[in-house]
Amino acid sequence: MSHQIIDFRSDNVTGIIPEILQAIIRENDRYGDTSYGYDQTTIALERQLRDFFDYPVQIFPIISGTAANALTLASITPPYGAIFCHEHAHIHVHECGAAEFFTGGAKLILLQGQQGKLAPDLLDQKIRTLGKGERHSVQPAAISLTQATEWGAVYQPDHVTEICKVAKKHDMLVHMDGARFANALLALRCHPGDITWRAGVDVLCLGATKAGAMAAEVVVFFNPKPVENFGYRWQRSGHVLSKMRFLSCQLQAFWRKGVWDQHALQANRLAKNLADGISQIPSVQLVAEPDINEVFMRLPKHMITQLQSQGVLFYDWPFPDPDHQENLPLIRLVTSFATTQEMVDRFLGLLKNI
Ligand SMILES: Cc1ncc(COP(=O)(O)O)c(C=O)c1O
Repeated sequence: MSHQIIDFRSDNVTGIIPEILQAIIRENDRYGDTSYGYDQTTIALERQLRDFFDYPVQIFPIISGTAANALTLASITPPYGAIFCHEHAHIHVHECGAAEFFTGGAKLILLQGQQGKLAPDLLDQKIRTLGKGERHSVQPAAISLTQATEWGAVYQPDHVTEICKVAKKHDMLVHMDGARFANALLALRCHPGDITWRAGVDVLCLGATKAGAMAAEVVVFFNPKPVENFGYRWQRSGHVLSKMRFLSCQLQAFWRKGVWDQHALQANRLAKNLADGISQIPSVQLVAEPDINEVFMRLPKHMITQLQSQGVLFYDWPFPDPDHQENLPLIRLVTSFATTQEMVDRFLGLLKNI
């Protein structure tokens, strides 16, 4: 029996999938290509993502999701602008004010919503009451949504379309944080265009790191207008890597059929198995059926302590879910391409025995 640690802290505590490691090794054998993103690998990646989205996208590989989000939001929001997002959005909770910093002071306006999702009606109402054209108010500029959400839920294509309609009505642009886009896309089983450009999304921060890259995300513009502006910000913030091809080759290897979908399948399937097992145990509560690779559960404090004392790793989830009045602590369990059924079974066994 394997003694692999049960680590459900995040999908970024993992290593690198073999397809990406091999791509880096192959890239290392190539010599004499251009630096700063003008290389053949980056050019081929753009072609590949144009095919993938079936749209003439313009792309910017980048090292982290935080940088992708912050620079993108800066390219679509003036310093006096307002960005509407969920109150638990990563850009608000976990990026140390990067969006506010890179925009030069734009304001995040936080909204509540089920499972991390924005509700179009509430969004519309809040934007209408902001004071468009009124010099005393920040000006509505962008809506940011996360696909899949920070609560591990996916937006259906119609829902994205409704949000984008609100944005267009108020002359705003739409940013999508796609740190877990692969997991979402697999869960939705739709064309990537259906939850992005066809729905009206202007720019997507498309992740690969959590799904198996060493470090690689890519900003994908569907709307060409902010592209020039973004390019300068990308360079100015020190994100144009001189050996960009090593970033691009990771994305190239990942966004291929049979790679992104197979690895996301493993993560999503094991989260489902975990949730199924949790729902059989009387003293713990599953918050919701997971759409992707994140499972949220409530359990008594002494059970948390015992799991931790047996070496199981996971994070507390600091946000109470609004629908639930009980005071049981909430934890988040994240599976990944590296999770095995054996880890899931061992975790459930420990939980049952407490
Ligand atoms: C939804 C979401 N967006 C963005 C990020 C940021 O990614 P990075 O850690 O690469 O900056 C994360 C990372 O946890 C995330 O969960």
